[in-house]
Amino acid sequence: MPKITIVGAGNVGAVTAHLLAMKKLGDVVLVDVLEGVAQGKALDIIEAGPIEGYGVSVIGTGSYEETKGSDIVIVTAAVPRKPGWTRKDFLDNNSKIVRNVVENIVKYSPGCILIIVSNPLDVMTYLACKTSGFSRERVIGMGCALDSSRFRHFIAQELHASNANVDAFVMGAHSDLMVPVVSHAYANGKPLTTLLDPGRVSTIVEKTRKAGPEIVALLKTGNAHYAPASAIAELVDAILSDSKKIIPCSVYVKGEYGTNGLCIGVPVHIGKKGAEAVVETTLTNEERNAFEKGVQETKEMIKLLEQ
Ligand code: 2OP
Repeated sequence: MPKITIVGAGNVGAVTAHLLAMKKLGDVVLVDVLEGVAQGKALDIIEAGPIEGYGVSVIGTGSYEETKGSDIVIVTAAVPRKPGWTRKDFLDNNSKIVRNVVENIVKYSPGCILIIVSNPLDVMTYLACKTSGFSRERVIGMGCALDSSRFRHFIAQELHASNANVDAFVMGAHSDLMVPVVSHAYANGKPLTTLLDPGRVSTIVEKTRKAGPEIVALLKTGNAHYAPASAIAELVDAILSDSKKIIPCSVYVKGEYGTNGLCIGVPVHIGKKGAEAVVETTLTNEERNAFEKGVQETKEMIKLLEQ
């Protein structure tokens, strides 16, 4: 069984642990600094095994020693996001947490693939790249996989189409500057732009951009966790099955889409080595400009981080 560690037993971490067990993807170690939380949630998950028919091991711990030899490590640890906060507000607090977590993970699992979930996502993924010293294949930021699921949902909802018949993705920054790629969005085999007028397409794009904050405002405390957990499980599944599925995620770009020196959401083939190859596709001028804005925002935040 592959060994999958999840750091942070908050809502995202715990729902992910449950989903990974339900999908029987591997043995799970849930880590949290809060005494008893990871242990309690792990027991709760494992006790559902007889009903759900899973027999994987799920361990809760406060110690990194138990993460030793993990194949995949998912980093969800972060300070809770508050309504009205921008992703920038997280920067200082979360960078301390992510740096510390990654240092500990690398010590015990030097060969693992890291999946970063903490916000601000693209900056934390960059920080994890720098802190771990791993090749870019082994540091994946989960942001655009989630945004893409939301985009597909809003398209399906608007057209009363089946989710299964919607093919669309989001790239760029995991912030309100994300780029739902309308020029490559299809429903029922037809380009989205031939199915809806530009106004309705813009509404879907805006809904997608605001989907995370919409949930934060409704919940009052905390943020989305079910769809994020599904997006994480999608990545884990693609790695472990070596599927080469194209999933948009944040990786360290080396000239792709005309940019470098940061992590940003791009479509990537995901397989057993991690983020194996970035897929370059054509974008409209509008999409390219929007992507560039997200790149600039992320670069500014990285500069701030490195001050
Ligand atoms: C989201 O988009 C919080 O990044 C998370 O919901």
